[in-house]
Amino acid sequence: PTTPPAAVRDEPVDLGAAVSLARLQDPVYRETVVRYFDSITAENEMKARALQPQRGVFSFSSADQLVAFARENGKEVRGHTLFWHGANPSWISNGSFSQAEWAQLIRDHASNVVGHFAGDITSWDVLNEIVAEDGSGLRTDNPWVNGFGGDPLDAIALMFQAAHEADPAARLCINDFSVEFNRPKTEAYYRLVRDLLARGVPIDCVGFQSHLITESEGPGVSDPGGWSPTLGELTGVLQRFADLGVTVQLTEADLKTSPTPGTTEQKLAAHADMARVLAGACQAVQACTELTWWGVNDSQSWLGSGEMTLLFSDTVTDDAFTPKPAYWATRDIL
Ligand code: XIL
Repeated sequence: PTTPPAAVRDEPVDLGAAVSLARLQDPVYRETVVRYFDSITAENEMKARALQPQRGVFSFSSADQLVAFARENGKEVRGHTLFWHGANPSWISNGSFSQAEWAQLIRDHASNVVGHFAGDITSWDVLNEIVAEDGSGLRTDNPWVNGFGGDPLDAIALMFQAAHEADPAARLCINDFSVEFNRPKTEAYYRLVRDLLARGVPIDCVGFQSHLITESEGPGVSDPGGWSPTLGELTGVLQRFADLGVTVQLTEADLKTSPTPGTTEQKLAAHADMARVLAGACQAVQACTELTWWGVNDSQSWLGSGEMTLLFSDTVTDDAFTPKPAYWATRDIL
């Protein structure tokens, strides 16, 4: 695809990677992150199960070590994620509380966590994956939102308000997947953000996870969760949200390649083409500030081995952590 002209921007697009503390013990992995990326996201260490394993008991040590690593190496940190249906401690997922108690739990989690990292985290995914897959509205399996009951927008407003009070300078994001191209879920996401803004909810930023695939077979053929937007489509979606007055970010990019027929060389080229779509769209939209990939090297992706998913390869060649064509394609743009 042809890259549209770079936007005149107030800040550059950061290229980020989701990292894990345990893997940072590996010097090659660590050096790859230090050398090639501008920002990091904790792959799991800042989820509720990790940070508040028991009610009122906060456990920051792993997350703090990631933040210290970032600070030592001049990396920005994205916070991921305060409120999600996944990775909750059992006292939350099985919790039965009154609405007033849920309100207090939401406030406590947001204020303790965001307060703890205030000044160290530039963007927070306050609410993750709340939009229903079929575009009908919101999911009903988020214990924080659904435990609260009543109008889900009231629970969501509380989440953002409490996070905002705890760190007024942090960029507060909502984040979701398979919303990078035009489909009913993307419309539902747009309406939700618009309605939250209309209610005065302090939401600054909209995240597009970007778990995509490299072929263009169309919806649901290889992966019911995501497929391949064109550069024009992705740019259009990002600009439409940006026109609401929010920052937009690509937060969890990875690309499945395995169903693509052809040689490894062809797959690497297809992967680089999609990487160019992601980087090109973000660069073209002035309000897009982040392109984070969900991991560093293919064999450690949450999608499992055998995929050629991320920017670094330790499967295609013998050489660990080799930048793939997609990395250089990205750096030509960002
Ligand atoms: C995933 C992690 O990569 C895995 O290690 C973990 O087992 C489950 O969560 N969307 C998100 C991320 O917002 O938090 C998920 O991360 C991947 C999908």
